[in-house]
Amino acid sequence: MGVIKDILRTMDYGPSPESTEHVGVWLEEHKSGFGHFINGAFTKPGDLFDVFNPARGERIARVSQGSAKDIDAAVAAARKAQPKWAALSGFERSKHIYALARHVQKRERFLSVLETIDNGKPIRESRDIDIPLVARHFYHHAGWASLIESELPGTKPVGVCGQIIPWNFPLLMLAWKIAPALAAGNTIVLKPAEFTPLTALAFAAICVETGLPPGVVNIVTGDGATGAALVAHAGVDKIAFTGSTEVGRAIRKATAGTGKKLSLELGGKSPFIVFEDADLDSAVEGVVDAIWFNQGQVCCAGSRLLVAEGAADALYAKLRARMANLTIGDPLDKSTDVGAIVAPVQLERIRRLMRQGEEEGLEFFRANDSLPDRGCFYPPTLVTGVDPASVLAREEIFGPVLVATTFRTPDEAVALANNTRYGLAASVWTENVNRALEVAARIKAGVVWINSTNMFDAAAGFGGYRESGFGREGGREGLSEYRIADEPKGKPNSSRPLRLNASPGVGPARNVVDEGPDRTAKLYVGGKQARPDSGYSYAVLDPAGREVGLAGLGNRKDIRNAVEAAAKASSWGAATAHNRAQVLYYVAENLAARADEFTRRLSAMTGASARAAKAEVDASIRRAFVYAGYADKFDGAVHATRSRFVTLAMNEPWGVMGILCPDEAPLLAFVSLVMPAIAMGNCVVAVPSASYPLSATDFYSVLDTSDVPAGVVNIVTGEANVLAKTLAEHDGVDAVWYVGDIEGAAQVEALSAGNLKATWTSAATTDWAKAEGREFLRRATQVKNIWTPYGE
Ligand code: NAI
Ligand code: MG
Repeated sequence: MGVIKDILRTMDYGPSPESTEHVGVWLEEHKSGFGHFINGAFTKPGDLFDVFNPARGERIARVSQGSAKDIDAAVAAARKAQPKWAALSGFERSKHIYALARHVQKRERFLSVLETIDNGKPIRESRDIDIPLVARHFYHHAGWASLIESELPGTKPVGVCGQIIPWNFPLLMLAWKIAPALAAGNTIVLKPAEFTPLTALAFAAICVETGLPPGVVNIVTGDGATGAALVAHAGVDKIAFTGSTEVGRAIRKATAGTGKKLSLELGGKSPFIVFEDADLDSAVEGVVDAIWFNQGQVCCAGSRLLVAEGAADALYAKLRARMANLTIGDPLDKSTDVGAIVAPVQLERIRRLMRQGEEEGLEFFRANDSLPDRGCFYPPTLVTGVDPASVLAREEIFGPVLVATTFRTPDEAVALANNTRYGLAASVWTENVNRALEVAARIKAGVVWINSTNMFDAAAGFGGYRESGFGREGGREGLSEYRIADEPKGKPNSSRPLRLNASPGVGPARNVVDEGPDRTAKLYVGGKQARPDSGYSYAVLDPAGREVGLAGLGNRKDIRNAVEAAAKASSWGAATAHNRAQVLYYVAENLAARADEFTRRLSAMTGASARAAKAEVDASIRRAFVYAGYADKFDGAVHATRSRFVTLAMNEPWGVMGILCPDEAPLLAFVSLVMPAIAMGNCVVAVPSASYPLSATDFYSVLDTSDVPAGVVNIVTGEANVLAKTLAEHDGVDAVWYVGDIEGAAQVEALSAGNLKATWTSAATTDWAKAEGREFLRRATQVKNIWTPYGE
């Protein structure tokens, strides 16, 4: 420690380490290794692996590598505990979750120190951000437990949830997963990340202390293999995952066709946009929080700085000066700003990407290259003049590296911001409120912070667009991930191959080359009737095998054309909800005007009695009216988050949706699926019932006469699972709804992994008379949370 005179001159902080005494005692007690937490007790330590403090490169504990057998035991315990846990009153569950919150709060100091030792993050962050947010999350969800029956009527718990979390916010990610699952009546098997399992084990001890019933929360430690065993386990009803996009994709494929519910919170490359009129000093502090918080190991890190050309030099100069004031070093020191990278492999990953950047000739700025002589450290780095095509502008670095690019116009800023396969978050800096909100609306991301960054709260949803995953965590949005519809399951739909050659007496080949004006229903693409690319039609047969008409045999080319037409019609999503409502009313009216014709068509195709057919048409008309009514009423929310923020939760359309309709109720199912999708502003490529497509193809003339803009609804007939394949694979499709057979549902889910589009599949019979309501609208939208500050 220097002389007071010297200290006053340099104004440096002296060392101020946090005490590790209690954590040290606890680790010493478990020196022989930690077991798993299964059915309310710790198992004997099994195959052990080392856990490190990355700031010192020292082993601090040994934990068990979970095997498939351990996962089995944990799932069995969770399964056994689930009905009793769900049967507790909301009030009882509430008290349990409240107790967890209280105990976390009581142990804030212990948990902060343990988190910092295990992860390498500065104690200031674990103490002031991570652990308080953990407590906040449990408190918030304690409330939900007693409200869930009344707030989410018609739903029930999913069952047993498998939860896999990463190492960047170990206990906070645990809270984000466990709190809503418990509130919603589920039981849990959670696997923490292999680099940072210790706070999860400390949390297990808290579950014992608070008297949480055995089996409600189970924690199995281990690496990716343990995670994969959890994903594959047949006794798990839902998987919630946070981590890399690569593993997210693997999980999407592994769960395809299993009926497991899935939510994925994946990577990002989030833009941090600074306009010329921004308050640059605040923006600089924003950058520090965006990319140097947690050493940049943040899925929503503002890692791409996009700055208006006119402000760039001034901002860079301020940033460089600020970087010189960042203190890098011992994470346990209360004055440390930048701590350690979580593990040597992550450090090597950052270095590898930076070498690639160097090969591209990029220039790096580092204010301070003197790093601690041991441990995993990487200095805060600014890279300017980065081409959007550069590897550093595209890849998630997950380190303290900011890459900067300039823009000239707001349009260019939005284009650059959206020029990524991710869509997790964005930060927008300008003093112009109109511009801020306009840009926020145009950015494709699940969270947008205006003049702020990295704001989190349990009451607001968090989650991504595009390849950043799907599903939300936090608030009401997150809760519905842990509930399912409380209704009897239908019988499995059996596969029904197209009866292409079944017409008697006409010879085997009923796939006929389409030869001009005839009874063949055309496809409907971009507001025009179109011949199928194949040139083929197929015979539509009634139940007695008589031909009632011909339908076009669509192929992948037709689907691609339809997707293109749908993408071009995207201004539909920007139309006012009132306008969309008017158009939908018009559709309903025009359908009503032609009710007799549709009734006859249905009867002829399906063999339904005139009465039954009329009932289906009437129900379809009513349904179209309902969604016309909903168009301007399924609105968003203002979340009660932090003071001096308005957090707007906006329901936004996916964009382009693929919709595959079942054979059941061929008109009503088509209307029930297409109407909510377009009511919310999506443009759709609809594949009607393959066996009974004609009431849907007749529908084009209703669309034509109802002012539905060209491309908003496109209709392609043909073999459902063939067309579903192209839709599920297509990167221009943002979501797919599939109702059909189990093979088809599995195919859609597996192929959706490409761009991680959202899917909603059913392979069971549905009571289409009842298939209506908010769930359809919820599934037709994704929520964007916009954080808007107020006050000077
Ligand atoms: P990761 O995705 O492999 O790890 C996340 C979790 O998934 C860990 O618990 C891990 O054990 C588990 N896991 C790994 N393979 C699995 C599998 N096949 N099945 C089930 N679970 C599996 O991420 P990793 O390798 O630690 O980090 C690599 C990169 O991923 C980072 O550099 C960063 O870009 C990104 N990442 C993103 C995170 C986010 O918050 N979105 C968090 C962690 C990493
Ligand atoms: Mg560690």
